[in-house]
Amino acid sequence: MVSTHPTEVQHTGTQYLPQKRNPNETVSPNQELLPLTAKVNSDDCLEIGGCDVTTLVQQFGSPLYILDEETLRAACRQYRDAFKQYYPGVSQVLYASKAWNCLAVCAIAASEGLGIDVVSGGELYTALAAGVSPEKIYLHGNNKSQPELVLAIESGVTIVVDNWQELHNLVQLTQNTQPVRIMLRLTPGIECHTHEYIRTGHLDSKFGFDPNDLDEVFSFVSKQPSLNCIGLHAHIGSQIFELQPHQDLGAVMVQWFRDTAKYGLSLTELNIGGGLGIRYTESDDPPSIEDWVKVICEVVQETCAAENLPLPKLLCEPGRSLIATACVTAYTVGATKVVPEIRTYVSVDGGMSDNPRPITYQSVYRAVVANKMSANVTETVTVAGKHCESGDILIKNAQLPKTEPGDILVVMATGAYNYSMASNYNRLPRPAAVVVANGEANLILQRETYQDLIRQDCLPERLKRGN
Ligand code: LLP
Repeated sequence: MVSTHPTEVQHTGTQYLPQKRNPNETVSPNQELLPLTAKVNSDDCLEIGGCDVTTLVQQFGSPLYILDEETLRAACRQYRDAFKQYYPGVSQVLYASKAWNCLAVCAIAASEGLGIDVVSGGELYTALAAGVSPEKIYLHGNNKSQPELVLAIESGVTIVVDNWQELHNLVQLTQNTQPVRIMLRLTPGIECHTHEYIRTGHLDSKFGFDPNDLDEVFSFVSKQPSLNCIGLHAHIGSQIFELQPHQDLGAVMVQWFRDTAKYGLSLTELNIGGGLGIRYTESDDPPSIEDWVKVICEVVQETCAAENLPLPKLLCEPGRSLIATACVTAYTVGATKVVPEIRTYVSVDGGMSDNPRPITYQSVYRAVVANKMSANVTETVTVAGKHCESGDILIKNAQLPKTEPGDILVVMATGAYNYSMASNYNRLPRPAAVVVANGEANLILQRETYQDLIRQDCLPERLKRGN
């Protein structure tokens, strides 16, 4: 058993250094994991978007997702600006809304000029309701239902076709419609180093057409007057730190593009997917957004030049790298249990229902105590959730100041795949979310109530007490 007894750990310094006062000063690791607007105020509390996190919790309750608008917008702009700088052709960044799909987040991304990648009828409905224009919405999915396809056709979004069954369904559904815009998702056979559940580009994947079928697929599609095939799509995985797989992907995709010409298809769009990793801990070292975009733009241009092809409209669809760092989750500390010589459990009022990533992917997070930001880090504890499951651990070996009940523990970089994968396990109501900017906080997701929890329940007459 790994002992995490506090005396074995070297603790140094405070949780957070608000500013770099001179160039030689080391930056606190937490500074890099928090949203851009993070500060420590005169009450020694963490402030995000000009709002004191402890006050936000008093106002909106706990746990609370806190989304920093400036950090999200800055990431949108970094993608957009990098394409402007490195790609002479047309480009479009899509936000992969599976990372966090809700009205406000879709609206912010769209207001920065981004399109939206959706992967279900529900995500599509939300993006449309947020006012995103259908020309900028792309529907993915390896098993789109008939109603989802109908909604996509009727609303005029682009459908990224994943397999033969879907192609046949679409041909049927478009008998009497205007031609429908589609793209084809291909499995590139590119391996990358990330958790096996979030790898999608290798050949043994449920997503996309097999590259061995390409001739047949292109030939079939070219004969369908109701399907207007505008381009190709691939996505190789998520939380990727290497640039090489995306470089390889760019080259392969341009070659596929070239191959479509012999079927009379005149494609214009090439979508390279998402997947850029982010920093969850101080030892993570992902490439910057700019470097990722640069590498892709360069390889697409070089391969197009070598193949004598005009530059396609280049799309990408990041999720995590747009929104993860923009959000933190604030919890309230409750019970503490010391298991002598083994570990100390500090329990919070949420857990695997609002952040299923640690239990699902063994993801590692970092936290700070928001109401004592300059306190020295003296403890190594295990931050546990409140669910009836021993695996409901948010952070193993968290380095924190001494905590007490009522302290506000902030887990960092929770913007991606937290709310969107949240559940009501143990019938915990899902937390509220606020967006903060310039000292103002606005609710973007209401906290669920107990009434919400039983809203969809039905109690048949014969089961009612007394009957
Ligand atoms: N495009 C497609 C087709 C995708 O399947 C995904 C992610 C993305 C774009 C965005 O990838 P990103 O830039 O966010 O890496 N729940 C997992 C992540 C699953 C990713 C699924 N697809 C997690 O919590 O790590």
